[in-house]
Amino acid sequence: MRTVKSSVKGWKTAATRPAVLIVIVLQALGLGACSLQEPAQPWIEQIAKQEKIYRSQGADVPSGYITGRALSDYAGLLISGFCDALGRLGSSDRWLDIGAGDGQAILDYYALEDNAAPAQKCARSFSKAHAVAMSIEDRRTDKWRQQAAIFGGDRLRYLSGKRLRNYSGEELGKFQIITDVYGGFSYTEDLSQFVEKVLGLLEVGGVFYTLVQSVHLEDGKDNPNTRYLTELVDAAGHDVKVCSWLKQTACVKAGCESKSDWDTPTELIDIRKVCSDVSVPRMKLLKFEAGYPPGRRFQLEP
Ligand SMILES: C[S@@+](CC[C@H](N)C(=O)[O-])C[C@H]1O[C@@H](n2cnc3c(N)ncnc32)[C@H](O)[C@@H]1O
Repeated sequence: MRTVKSSVKGWKTAATRPAVLIVIVLQALGLGACSLQEPAQPWIEQIAKQEKIYRSQGADVPSGYITGRALSDYAGLLISGFCDALGRLGSSDRWLDIGAGDGQAILDYYALEDNAAPAQKCARSFSKAHAVAMSIEDRRTDKWRQQAAIFGGDRLRYLSGKRLRNYSGEELGKFQIITDVYGGFSYTEDLSQFVEKVLGLLEVGGVFYTLVQSVHLEDGKDNPNTRYLTELVDAAGHDVKVCSWLKQTACVKAGCESKSDWDTPTELIDIRKVCSDVSVPRMKLLKFEAGYPPGRRFQLEP
């Protein structure tokens, strides 16, 4: 059998090169090795395209790939209650922002005492929690470096170079609040594994705040002509709402706020971990189309 290893060694023919590149992309993504004789999944090229979006810098960053949202944007995009919860964190608590981009929301959180602009009043408090920004690609700005130097890497931490699923629980520790604003929840190719990982990082009583756009809404008020970006179906191919799926998770209390009047139907979500034996109903990926965010279709496993 011709293995990945022997083919990479050879780099012989032009015909093998694209396949080898795909394997390298897959391995970089942590999707595991496969034999070149196995047919490539149809979305592998799309995942490679997605990788290019993450790696884009300067003028090459697509205008729709927004990486610098402020804390006030998070306040407007996340379910009501997020700012109060963030404001209640104490100095020994921890906040993880998955898909933090430039980390601007965390910078704003640390800057709030001297900045009384009304739009930035989310989470006004004097004691600041430890904050961890996570992004696949390193988008730290000079401002981030300056602030991290002032407060110390222990209070303001920026993690990049891999995806959430590639970190161990020991590396990251536990958090009272985890946020995700158009981050991994909107971009991952394995939504059930992603949510399970997030919930594993939450303390019992901790909350995960996120949102997802262009989905079938819990309140059923989405325009049926929507170009849906994240679709879930059951084993028979019937639509499943993202919120209904999340509510099947053991050991959580999931809340949803449907926004049918936004540009695209968007579900605002909070998930509180109520006990430690979390188990998320599994789904498999049926379709992946690169974008910002990508188009994805998942099927619930029976
Ligand atoms: C569109 S940007 C959003 C940035 C920021 N939240 C904002 O609203 O400005 C997407 C971010 O999600 C990150 N991301 C996507 N999938 C991820 C994953 N599985 N693990 C960690 N970060 C991820 C990207 O690297 C990037 O930082």
